[in-house]
Amino acid sequence: MSMEEMVLNVFRKMEPEDFRVLTAIELGMVSHEYTPFEDVLRYSSLPEEEVRYRISRLNGFKLLRSISRPFEGYALNYYSYDFLALNALVKAGKLEALGKPVGIGKEADVFDGLTPDGKKVIVKFHRVGRVSFRQTRRIRRYVADRRHISWLYQSRIAAEREYEALKTLVKARAKTPRPIAQNRHVVVMSYFSGVELIDVAYIDEPKLLLKDIIDEVRRIYLEAGLIHGDLSEYNIVVKEDGDFLIIDWPQFVKRGEPGFESYLRRDLRNLLKFFRKKFGLKISLDDAISYVTGASEHLDV
Ligand SMILES: Nc1ncnc2c1ncn2[C@@H]1O[C@H](COP(=O)(O)OP(=O)(O)O)[C@@H](O)[C@H]1O
Ligand SMILES: [Mg+2]
Repeated sequence: MSMEEMVLNVFRKMEPEDFRVLTAIELGMVSHEYTPFEDVLRYSSLPEEEVRYRISRLNGFKLLRSISRPFEGYALNYYSYDFLALNALVKAGKLEALGKPVGIGKEADVFDGLTPDGKKVIVKFHRVGRVSFRQTRRIRRYVADRRHISWLYQSRIAAEREYEALKTLVKARAKTPRPIAQNRHVVVMSYFSGVELIDVAYIDEPKLLLKDIIDEVRRIYLEAGLIHGDLSEYNIVVKEDGDFLIIDWPQFVKRGEPGFESYLRRDLRNLLKFFRKKFGLKISLDDAISYVTGASEHLDV
């Protein structure tokens, strides 16, 4: 079942006690690959009969992974982790509905959504280590496997980092999504209706766009002290009128961090390479670096 189908068919049926049991399992997973049944009982503070009932319901919804040996234990999967985050965002009044997928990437699933006051937003589910997680399912289920915990953990860290970057960037009035909320591995941010630069069929004045993007990279570097770290034609969304947004920030690097110059260099190299190949614009990488870092005040494009 796709995420959309899960939300449509299952999320609506979820009751507070179902979430209570999921939260108990999540809590146990801080220290266990599978949370022992006794801990689910303890953390949820629900009667055993109720917990049994909830577990069988959740199993029916395909929201759990389980083992019976060497002990009875339960673990979250993608969907239940998604559900916990969505439920928290809904309860906090940040999100009302999840819409259609707008991009399924390597490291994230991105959907549009609606806030309670009817604004269209982006809902980004970070999925770090997705590939290795899939592999773990083939491993015998009762083998203690740390990689799953690390998937949850790494995905949450990625979301926290992206949210932190967006908060810093919005203060510098950067052309980046506005942060709205974050819970677990999910970031809610403002929606921008454009297409990825890689998919733009025609640009009126590519020179102008390139200069604007470099100016933005400069402002972000000088005023927010950040370097994107994965800048490319995939992470710039462009509107027809030439307005754009730089997205996808979990791997940002702070100015002054070890190796930050090499990240800035790589970001600019990617950007210049794209504009050179697609539009024949030639700018020297060293000139661009001098300009972005403030060593020079002008850049001829
Ligand atoms: N704020 C946004 N507004 C509009 N579209 C977005 C926004 N954020 C992401 N997208 C779309 O979703 C795709 C994937 O998002 P991104 O943040 O780059 O994650 P990843 O590359 O890790 O999958 C983007 O390339 C873009 O098409
Ligand atoms: Mg991306």
